[in-house]
Order: sequence, then structure tokens, then C-alpha cells
Amino acid sequence: MRRGDDVAAVVTNGLNADTTVHWHGLLIPGELDGGPHQIIAPGATWRPTLPIRQPAATLLYHSHVHGLTAEQVYSGLAGALLVTDDEEQGLGLPSEYGVDDLPLLIQDRQFENGRLVMPGGMMVAMQGRRGDTILVNGAVNPLAAVPNRLVRLRLVNASNARIYELSFSDRRSFHWIGTEGGLLEHAVALEAITLAPGQRAELLVDFTDGRSASLVTAADTNSSMMGGMGMMGRGARRTDAAAPATVLRFEPRPLGQARASGVVPTLLASRTGPDASKAVRRRRLSLNMGMGGMMGSGSGGGGLTINGKPFDMNRIDETVKLGSTEIWEVSGEMMRHPIHIHGVHFDVLTRGGGQPDVLDQGPRDTVLVKEPVELLIRFDQPAKSAPFMYHCHILEHEDNGMMGQFSVA
Ligand code: C2O
Ligand code: CU
Ligand code: CU
Repeated sequence: MRRGDDVAAVVTNGLNADTTVHWHGLLIPGELDGGPHQIIAPGATWRPTLPIRQPAATLLYHSHVHGLTAEQVYSGLAGALLVTDDEEQGLGLPSEYGVDDLPLLIQDRQFENGRLVMPGGMMVAMQGRRGDTILVNGAVNPLAAVPNRLVRLRLVNASNARIYELSFSDRRSFHWIGTEGGLLEHAVALEAITLAPGQRAELLVDFTDGRSASLVTAADTNSSMMGGMGMMGRGARRTDAAAPATVLRFEPRPLGQARASGVVPTLLASRTGPDASKAVRRRRLSLNMGMGGMMGSGSGGGGLTINGKPFDMNRIDETVKLGSTEIWEVSGEMMRHPIHIHGVHFDVLTRGGGQPDVLDQGPRDTVLVKEPVELLIRFDQPAKSAPFMYHCHILEHEDNGMMGQFSVA
């Protein structure tokens, strides 16, 4: 999609269940957002016209039907969505789709005898579904043939629950150039990057040495700590499956003529983020997974709430004034939770009461909450006839109640 376009989307539901399609990261009004209120019934077609008015970025889209989001995304309903604009195209970044500019949707799954299996039960509600097989763009054991030059990777974590700690097998460094909201101001040289569910990261990786390397991930240790084997539900025996793994192998070859400049630009994007001195109010979100509620619930996961309240489609939790700037303090318990807020790109103002991490920078729509964070947010998109959501992007947490909704008017 191109900045300035009005994109006519046509979404037909071919399932035997309700679904929705949420444009994660698109800055558009609430009624176009594709959240739990824009249900597409089986056989029905939804035709929103999407006004693209934001900087170039790597986004995603996925099912967001309440209570079935995790199951539908795990079954395949997620994809990448790219926004481009003149500023980005003027930078000389690698931008030949599928050649030196690769959108990479990362997901983990469990298979049994070649068939996808969907673990369930209390343990899965608590930790989220994780798998021992990592797919990139739907491929098992993937290999990317790349030109032996600078290559752009647009990483999208479309996994239900797994947090990736990504690096290269030969520890080569790379440049981090973009996040959920688009390009950073300046490239950041890194050797490893964390990617939580819902997050995106754009990287420039130099393959001019012609040597093969793999993108690998460390183990995902995110856990609610109460995960004794005895609590595992049926089919969940492998929730310890989030072991270190190879994500994607790269084989550089002399491929075609470079159109990109081959250098990392010094200034990628200039952006006026929200202004902290304009913040008119504070709100607090506490992401809870209380033991009490959990154990008392027949269906499992009953204790997953925000500010003690499980999600309710018929309750607007917060009412925000259109055009205003606010600070949202988000804290969590027991695990790291990726908080995602619809309809905005925010800045991380503080983490754990101090400076944000290097990896917190840039315009974000999803950040990991372990220590409490303060988010600086300007609300420029209306959500009046339909609210926006905020939720944990561990999809099993979201489905089981760790979500709230807000209107903007
Ligand atoms: Cu990516 Cu509310 O979702
Ligand atoms: Cu979203
Ligand atoms: Cu969570």
C-alpha cells in the first residue's frame, strides 16, 4: 500500500465461523480497524476503504474475532502488509521485493505426522501456544537465497505467544532500521534483537562476504512460573518446546545488479513524535493473571484481566479525547506481556522508572512489559462508532480476557 492511497479492501469469509480482519498498525478510524466489533459472518464480505496516511512501515493483518483469535491465527489467518512512501523510496534502501527486500513472517507451530496440531488446556491458556517448529512465510526449514550485498529483512512476529531473541549464527552485526511505526531516525548497530508477538523489526544485513549464515533464536523463557508438568493440559506436553532454534538460513549468491545504494543511510526518517509536555492525563493498565481467578475458573485462564476486569464487548473501559496526548502506565505480573494498542503509534517514555531500553526506541504499537513502562500516546484516530482495543498480544491471554477497549472522540 502507498501513503496517500485509499485502498478498497474486499474480505470474504470462507470459514464456517465468524471472523474479522484487523489491520495491525494501520492508523485508521475504529470502524475500519477490523477488531472484534467488525464481525464478518460465514459467507459474508466486508469492504472497508482504508485511507493510508502514515509513513512507510511493515504491518500485519490477522483475525481478531473475540475468543477465537488465537485459534484462527494459529490456523493461518495472519499476513504481512507493507506501506511505502516517497521519503522511504528516496533513501536507496534495498527494496526489490523478494530479492533484497524480504518480508518474513515468523510463526511457531506443532506438527504430528505432518499435520498441524493445536494444543489446548489450562497450560496453553496461561503460557500461550508455542511450537517446536518455526515457520517463515509458512515454510518449514526455510532457506533464503539472497544477493551478496546489503539485504533488508522485515521481520514480523506473527506467533501466538513466542518471544524471539534473534541473532545470526556467526554473531555478525546488523543494522536495525525500523520498528512497528516505520523507520527509525538513525540505524542502530546490533548483534541481537528481541521480537515479541505483534512486533516488527526491519534490519539491514550485509552479505557481501558471500558467507552463509542463519538467523537463530534463543530459548523463549517467558513463563508464568507455575507451569509444573502436572498442570499441562491435553496435547500441551511440549510447551517446553520454545528451545533455541534456527529460524532461517541465508545463502548469498551473485544475483543480478543492485538497484539499492548498498550503504546504510545516516538519516532514515525524521519524525515529530508526541510531546510529553502536552500530556493531559495518565491512565494505568495493570495486566493481571491472578492465581485466584485462574484456579476458580472451569474453562481455564479465567484470571486474565486488565485492571481486574476481563474483556467485555459491551463495556467501554476508557474514553479518550480526539487529538489529545496522554501517558499510559502499563504494568504486568508473572510473565512478560506484549501490550498492543490499536489506532496509535506511541513512544516508550520510561521503563522500570528509568530510561527506556535501546530496543524501546521508535514509533511503536506493541512493547514488552516486564518492568512497568510509561507510554506517551497521541490519539489522532477517531473511534466513536466502534472502539479500539488494547490488549496483551499473547493471543491466548487476549482471548481469555486480557483486553480492554477505548473510544476516541
Ligand atoms: Cu495484532 Cu489487537 O492486534
Ligand atoms: Cu492492532
Ligand atoms: Cu499476556
